[in-house]
Amino acid sequence: MTSLAGARVVVTGGAGFIGSHLVDELVTRRHVEHVTVIDSLVNGSRANLAHWAGDPRVRLIEADVRSEAALRAVDGMDVVFHLACLGVRHSLHDPITNHEVNATATLRLLERARTAGIGRFVHVSSSEVFGTAQRVPMDERHPTWPETVYGAAKLAGEAYARAAFRTHGLPVIVVRPFNTYGPRSHFEGDSGEILPRTIVRNLCGLPALIYGDGHQTRDFMHVSDTARGLALLAESDAAVGKTVNFGSGEEVQIRLLARTVAWLTGRPDLNAVHLEDRPGDVRRLLVDAHLMHRLTGFTPAMPFDAGVADLVRWFRSRPSTPEQMLQRIEDRNWVAPVDGTAAGVPA
Ligand SMILES: NC(=O)c1ccc[n+]([C@@H]2O[C@H](COP(=O)([O-])OP(=O)(O)OC[C@H]3O[C@@H](n4cnc5c(N)ncnc54)[C@H](O)[C@@H]3O)[C@@H](O)[C@H]2O)c1
Repeated sequence: MTSLAGARVVVTGGAGFIGSHLVDELVTRRHVEHVTVIDSLVNGSRANLAHWAGDPRVRLIEADVRSEAALRAVDGMDVVFHLACLGVRHSLHDPITNHEVNATATLRLLERARTAGIGRFVHVSSSEVFGTAQRVPMDERHPTWPETVYGAAKLAGEAYARAAFRTHGLPVIVVRPFNTYGPRSHFEGDSGEILPRTIVRNLCGLPALIYGDGHQTRDFMHVSDTARGLALLAESDAAVGKTVNFGSGEEVQIRLLARTVAWLTGRPDLNAVHLEDRPGDVRRLLVDAHLMHRLTGFTPAMPFDAGVADLVRWFRSRPSTPEQMLQRIEDRNWVAPVDGTAAGVPA
């Protein structure tokens, strides 16, 4: 194991949902020297890092990961966690930008990490590289047949990362998180996820909206566990050069998720409304977490019901009312925004 204590770290996408929790984990529990966050704030926010304001250990560079400013920030660092990306629904209405950020920018960052002599590069990919499960549980040898440009771009990014390891010996670790939820998760716009959206709707007295029959399954992990697992992987010498699936191993049906949220928001009377299937929606995801456990000893600490209860409490404590949050939810959030703006296009 190589401890992260005292390391100089870059987290791209560190003002986002998972990235900001990773920053907390790195500073508070891994005692890194400092973290430089590179984030364009297209989907992340300063609020996610507000508790670090004025602390010299955390610095935010507001820059596009495709820019020279972002690449320069890698020079002189020890470790890079690469999380900056545009999401799966974004890829349905703006596939070209999605590819540029999720794939091309990854290649450029890897190249810079190589010339800068970075000691560890953790590339955060996604279970979306698999498409829907052809067999479960899904280990690292499961076929990769992504259903969306997002999944395809993440697959290209991880292939570039493996190539950087094989051809140049860049100490790369590729990790594929399954679904993560928790405080700071997105309910809004094309980043909005089923769990936070359903909580906001139920708190407004509205039923869950489920696309399709609700028999789709996902493998959910609480973000505190996700952040801890990413840090543990970076510290594992045995993980270098490996591609690692990272989930809880607990399969949750979307219709049961909706029932859980209805109970935990105190609205068991609200029955989900079913709409048409969502394009590119995979049917089933369930991790085989053996490799992750073998490399790091990691097991998730937060059970699903307790994690959802924690998230409901978090949403109840927001300064915005549920009704104000509801205004920012788009029901069919894979469709291009009406004003034609495409997230992530640099000025
Ligand atoms: N949330 C999940 O369930 C999940 C599952 C699997 C994989 N992942 C991966 O984890 C990582 C983090 O995801 P998240 O859920 O925290 O999403 P997020 O949108 O909250 O975080 C991504 C961050 O990247 C930033 N970003 C986007 N485009 C950028 C650009 N061009 N330049 C600089 N910054 C840019 C955004 O502003 C945001 O802060 C992503 O790589 C994602 O693919 C997430």
